[in-house]
Amino acid sequence: MEKTNKKTLEEIIRVDHAGERGAIKIYEGQLLALKTFKQNASLKRKIEEMKEHEREHYEYFNNGIKKRNIQPTKLLPLWDIMGVTLGFGTAMLGEKAAMLCTASVEEVIDGHYKDQTYKLGKDEEELKKKIFYLCNIFSDSKIYNYFDEYEKIKKEFDSLNFYEEINLPKRLTFKNKK
Ligand SMILES: [Fe+2]
Repeated sequence: MEKTNKKTLEEIIRVDHAGERGAIKIYEGQLLALKTFKQNASLKRKIEEMKEHEREHYEYFNNGIKKRNIQPTKLLPLWDIMGVTLGFGTAMLGEKAAMLCTASVEEVIDGHYKDQTYKLGKDEEELKKKIFYLCNIFSDSKIYNYFDEYEKIKKEFDSLNFYEEINLPKRLTFKNKK
C-alpha cells in the first residue's frame, strides 16, 4: 500500500490516543484502590511503573493528534470515568483481578495495533514502526513475565467478561468519528 487513507489514519490515531489514555486511567483507578482500601506495596510499585510507560505511549499519540490537527474523541471524559472505575473495581477484587485487567487490556491493544499496521501505507513508516514497537513491548516486557499466570487467571475470571468492557471504547470511538 503506497498511501494511507486519510480517514483511516485519523481513526487510528484517535483510537490509539483514547486507548492509551484509557490505560492510564485504569492504572489510576487501581492506584486509588491501593492507596485507600487495599494494602499491597509491591503491586502498587508495579502499577506505578506500568502507568509511567503508558504515559509515554499516550504522549506519542497526543503529539500526533496535535501535529496532525485531529480531533480527539468527544467521549474522552466518559472513558476516563470508565477507566478509573474498571481499575478501581478490579484492584478492589484483589491482585489477581487487577493483573487480569492489565493483561487483558494489553492483549486487546496488542491485537488492535497489529491490525492497524496493515492499514498504514509507505507514507506512514514512522507511525507503523512505533505501533510495531508498542505491539512487541507487551510480549517482550516484564509485564508479560509478571502475568505468566495469565492464562490460568483468565479462565477463573472469564465470567467477568473484560473483553467486552475493553472493546467498548473502540466501537464507540469509531461511531463518534467526524
Ligand atoms: Fe500503552
